[in-house]
Amino acid sequence: MDNLATYFDSFFFIALPYVAFFTFFLVTIERYRRRKFTYSSLSSQFLENKQHFWGLVPFHYGIITVLAGHIVAFLIPREILWWNSKPLRLYILEASALIFAILAVVGLGAAMVRRLNTSKVRTVTSRMDWVILALLMLQLLTGIEVAVRYPWGSSWFATSATPYLWSLVGLNPDISYITAMPFSVKLHIINAYLLILLFPFSRLVHILVVPNPYLWRKRQVVRWYRKPRNA
Ligand code: HEM
Repeated sequence: MDNLATYFDSFFFIALPYVAFFTFFLVTIERYRRRKFTYSSLSSQFLENKQHFWGLVPFHYGIITVLAGHIVAFLIPREILWWNSKPLRLYILEASALIFAILAVVGLGAAMVRRLNTSKVRTVTSRMDWVILALLMLQLLTGIEVAVRYPWGSSWFATSATPYLWSLVGLNPDISYITAMPFSVKLHIINAYLLILLFPFSRLVHILVVPNPYLWRKRQVVRWYRKPRNA
């Protein structure tokens, strides 16, 4: 049983992240070289605009802020621990992260309902879109579960997740930080790797096409540069 747990941990926390990042870089670069014009979110704004706005805008503000928080805790863990050394500052950080996480869930939920309910939008939604939407939702919900059930995650992220992630970067993986973590934390991390793995095969690639003015430009209608499926 112990052996099985060791294999499980080694597979999901050593092999999977390397496979995910390797695929991410290789396929992303190759796709850009060969099929540059597929680097798009394939906007469906022209099919339906109102629900699109109320889903996508809160989702993007929420997820961008939460991901920025993860990156800051990865890059400057000491400063995060210093900030959290005063309880009030810790509460402010944790509460703000939670608010943005909930904003992202509400936005993503609205975007999913729109894709189900608006027949024109449903028609142009691929299987991969649904897989990505489901994984994103799972990522947000497990993140919120972790934040609520195991409090002060911003501090223990800095002391456990950050050294683990740096050990991967240094090609000297140390999973001792992760092996004793509860199941929901493990699921949150594994699901993040799955998202990174599928990133280059999905419309998530639009993130890499900067400038990315969706969030502040005036409303505009976007046409696809793609033949319809049945043409
Ligand atoms: C696709 C990438 C990821 C997304 C979208 C994501 C999303 C989230 C969300 C929405 C939360 C809740 C925020 C809060 O209320 O505090 C969260 C919390 C958390 N995530 Fe992630 N996450 C990602 C990757 C990761 C990875 C790779 C790790 C660790 C190796 C990780 C570790 C944590 C921890 C420890 C918390 C709790 C933080 C706290 O309580 O303040 N996440 N994540």
